[in-house]
Amino acid sequence: MSVSVLVAYATSYGSTQEVAEAVAATLHECGLVADIQPMREVRTLAGYSAVVLGAPLYMFRWHKHARHFLSRHRETLTERPVAIFALGPFHDDEKEWKDARAQLDKELAKFPWLAPVALEIFGGKFDPAKLRFPLKSLPALKAMPASDIRDWTAIRTWASNLDAKLQPASS
Ligand SMILES: Cc1cc2nc3c(=O)[nH]c(=O)nc-3n(C[C@H](O)[C@H](O)[C@H](O)COP(=O)(O)O)c2cc1C
Repeated sequence: MSVSVLVAYATSYGSTQEVAEAVAATLHECGLVADIQPMREVRTLAGYSAVVLGAPLYMFRWHKHARHFLSRHRETLTERPVAIFALGPFHDDEKEWKDARAQLDKELAKFPWLAPVALEIFGGKFDPAKLRFPLKSLPALKAMPASDIRDWTAIRTWASNLDAKLQPASS
C-alpha cells in the first residue's frame, strides 16, 4: 500500500513554508506521494494515510494555525501517523534551543491524545526588514540582526527518515 502524505504548514514570514517544501520534496524523492498545503486551507485529511505538521514558535507558543488545526482534525489525526516539526531558535545558543523545546513540549501537552511518530525543532529565520505591524514598531526587534540558521541537511535527513515511521500501522 503506497503512503500518501499531507505536509501541512503554518507560517507568518515564510521560513516554515520553505522548510515544509523541502520536507515534501524529500518525501517525494523517497517514493512517497506528498502534497503540501497551508494548515488553514486544509478542509479534510481524507485520502492521506499520514500527516506531517510544521509550524513556528511565536511568543512561547506554537503558531495559532497549528493549534487550531490540531483541534479541528483531532479525530482523523488519531487514526494516522503524525510527524511534527517546529521552527524556533534563530541563534546558535544552547539556552534558546532548550527553551524552544520546552515551549513546544508544553504546547503539545495540551493535546494529550496526540502521539507523534517523530518530533523535531529546526533553527529558524529572522529578518527585521520584513517585520510587519505591530512587530515592526518594536525597536528592540528592529535592532536585532538578521539571521537564518535553518540547517537544510538536518531538515532533509529528518524527512528522509520519516518513510518507515509514516507507514500505516497495519502494513
Ligand atoms: C516576534 C517573534 C517572536 C518569536 N518567538 C519565538 C519563541 O517564543 N520561541 C522560539 O523558539 N522562536 C521564536 N521566534 C522565532 C520564529 O519561530 C522563527 O523566526 C521562525 O523561523 C519564523 O517562522 P515563519 O517565517 O514561518 O513565520 C520568534 C520570532 C519573532 C519574529
